[in-house]
Amino acid sequence: MILTARSLSKVLQLTLAVIKPDAVAHPVMLEALHQRILEDNFTIVRCKDLVWRRQDSERFYAEHSGRFFYQRLVEFMSSGPMRAYILAREDAVRHWRELMGPTKVFRARFTSPASIRAQFGLTDTRNTTHGSDSVESAQREIRFFFPEFHEEEWMEKEEPLFRSGQIQYDDQKRIHTLLTRS
Ligand code: RTP
Ligand code: MG
Repeated sequence: MILTARSLSKVLQLTLAVIKPDAVAHPVMLEALHQRILEDNFTIVRCKDLVWRRQDSERFYAEHSGRFFYQRLVEFMSSGPMRAYILAREDAVRHWRELMGPTKVFRARFTSPASIRAQFGLTDTRNTTHGSDSVESAQREIRFFFPEFHEEEWMEKEEPLFRSGQIQYDDQKRIHTLLTRS
């Protein structure tokens, strides 16, 4: 059997990352976060700017209904524009959560000073980013934000090409796209 670089590398995993309204409100911060994603070797599969209605926020965070911070969270997440990404990488779910740091900003500053929440977070609610917490959540959350994206089809047709590096970064669209053969 011939072992190629591709057959030795692990299948790419997808995760959902969101830049929350506190950060999107500041264009310099938004750009810094976008660069951070690229520098940390994530591949950007999709990128979308959007605004939630209150009921979108309530539906997305239904698992937290009843918690003391639920109303505050729901209101905040529908208070202004946000940006959602589908990111690809080996162990993308874990890597993105590591890069975000702990939920609570003061804890993040203490335990993970280089993390996004430590550097950009304002409060425990306005904590800059969201990241799926498991592969199953990632699938559900990607469907929530990108209903037009067919994950199974992407894994079958595009993942092998993305994994073997046949991609380029498109500055206009701010995503990675497949190299086109000329
Ligand atoms: P996320 O879902 O946003 O990626 O963050 P997470 O897993 O680290 O945190 P989770 O427990 O799922 O909480 C969801 C979001 O609720 C807000 N929150 N506020 N003590 C508080 O005031 C509090 N705790 C949580 C945060 O915006 C958190 O990201
Ligand atoms: Mg969570």
